[in-house]
Parts: sequence; structure tokens; C-alpha cells
Amino acid sequence: MLQVSVWRGADEGRYVDYEVPRQTSQTVLDVVTYIQRKLDSTLAYRYACRVGMCGSCAMTVNGVARMTFPTHDSAVAKDDRVQIAPLANLPVVRDLVTDMREFFNKWSRAKGYYQSTRTRNDDFAAVKPQSKQAQALQAGIECIGCGVCYASCDVVSWRPDYLGPAALNRAWTLVNDVRDGARPERLRAVAGDAGCHSCHTHMSCTERCPKHISPTASIAGLKRATARAALSGEL
Ligand code: SF4
Ligand code: SF4
Ligand code: FES
Repeated sequence: MLQVSVWRGADEGRYVDYEVPRQTSQTVLDVVTYIQRKLDSTLAYRYACRVGMCGSCAMTVNGVARMTFPTHDSAVAKDDRVQIAPLANLPVVRDLVTDMREFFNKWSRAKGYYQSTRTRNDDFAAVKPQSKQAQALQAGIECIGCGVCYASCDVVSWRPDYLGPAALNRAWTLVNDVRDGARPERLRAVAGDAGCHSCHTHMSCTERCPKHISPTASIAGLKRATARAALSGEL
């Protein structure tokens, strides 16, 4: 049997213990699902795809932010015990569900959305797969918005207005997109006090990203690009 302590409540709450049978290849998401289906149907948690694509099943497992789907309980259980809590640095809606609004609002504040230079009457803007431009784009584009990096970042904990690793990684992806037409505005958006220069390169985001993205490298790229833009008068 696995002894599982699960956070119940919102920002105020407590850990409640459950016993879950151990199964071969059981993931932490399976454990939470077992509790909700067999032991306590009032437990709130979030998931959708179960294949590591939607980014919705991230939680804090034994104090570390991670995706609960690909994580096997055998990889994290210590003395047959696992503690499961909601992601840090985000308000808790209930139990294991966090409110992601501020996380995604920061993507918007970092201008983390594509701004086309073309109209519907133009042909497709092509980027050849082997080109330098395509390689620059690919480094950070696989982000699934899971929030693991954001929950792992000390700077987000210290200063809640910091845009955070995911939003800045998205901004860097777009800065490298030759089809995008909002480079100066985006660089201005990330150059402020709460932007890329607040990152202290601690690397927790990069160590924990389930898609092996390096937001730290993206943020370093933004630091260089904003500094160059400031010197050339682009900002
Ligand atoms: S490298 Fe920067 S963004 Fe990543 S966890 Fe550290 S401070 Fe946060
Ligand atoms: S950068 Fe990685 S950890 Fe951060 S939201 Fe995207 S996929 Fe998740
Ligand atoms: S359920 Fe979609 S990534 Fe975990």
C-alpha cells in the first residue's frame, strides 16, 4: 500500500491521508484518480490528455513541482509515502486545483502572442525546417503551459509581478520568429523591472521543465536582445 498525504482546502487547509494500492507502472496521476474515484469523490484536481501534451496535471509532489502523468509513484515514493499538493506561486482554487489566470495574464503582458505582418490575402509565411530561423524558433516552442517552471522559480515567490520563466520563454520564441511583426513592443514589454533582468539564473525552471526547454537560456537571450536594442535606440 502507498500512504498518500493530499492537500485539502484552499490557501487555508490541511493534509489528509489516504491508502492507495500499489500497481505496476502506476503514475502519481493514477494515484490521485484512484483517491477521487474510490475513496473521496469530493477531491478536486485537474487533468485532460494523460499523454503529457495539455499541461494541466502539474502538482507539487514531495515538495517538487512536476507533471503527475509521466511521474511513476515508484520514482518519488519514500518509505511508501507520497505527499501531493497544488503548484506553488499560484492561488489555490480548491485541493489540487490552482488558479492559472495570473500565469497566463503574464504571457499576455510579455506580448507572448504572435502578431502577423500579413493579411488573409497573402500567401503562407514559410520558414524552411532546416533554416537558422527554424532552429531558433524550435528551442522553446514545445512549451505546454504546465506552470512547473513558474512554481519552481524563487523570483516569482519573492516578487509576484515578475513575468516568470514561461512567459519570458514564449516572448523569446516570438522574438526569434522572422514572421512576427511586434519585436520592438515585445522587447519593451520584457525589458522592465518585472521582466528578464530580474531573473537570477538559478536554473530551477530549466532543471524541472518536463519538455526539456531551457527558459534560463531564453531569458539570457532576452537580456542580450534588450541590451542591444537599448544601445541601438530600438527600445
Ligand atoms: S533561471 Fe530565472 S526564471 Fe528560471 S527559476 Fe531561476 S530566476 Fe526563475
Ligand atoms: S517552459 Fe516547461 S515547465 Fe515552463 S510552462 Fe513550458 S513546458 Fe511547463
Ligand atoms: S493530463 Fe495532459 S499533460 Fe498531464
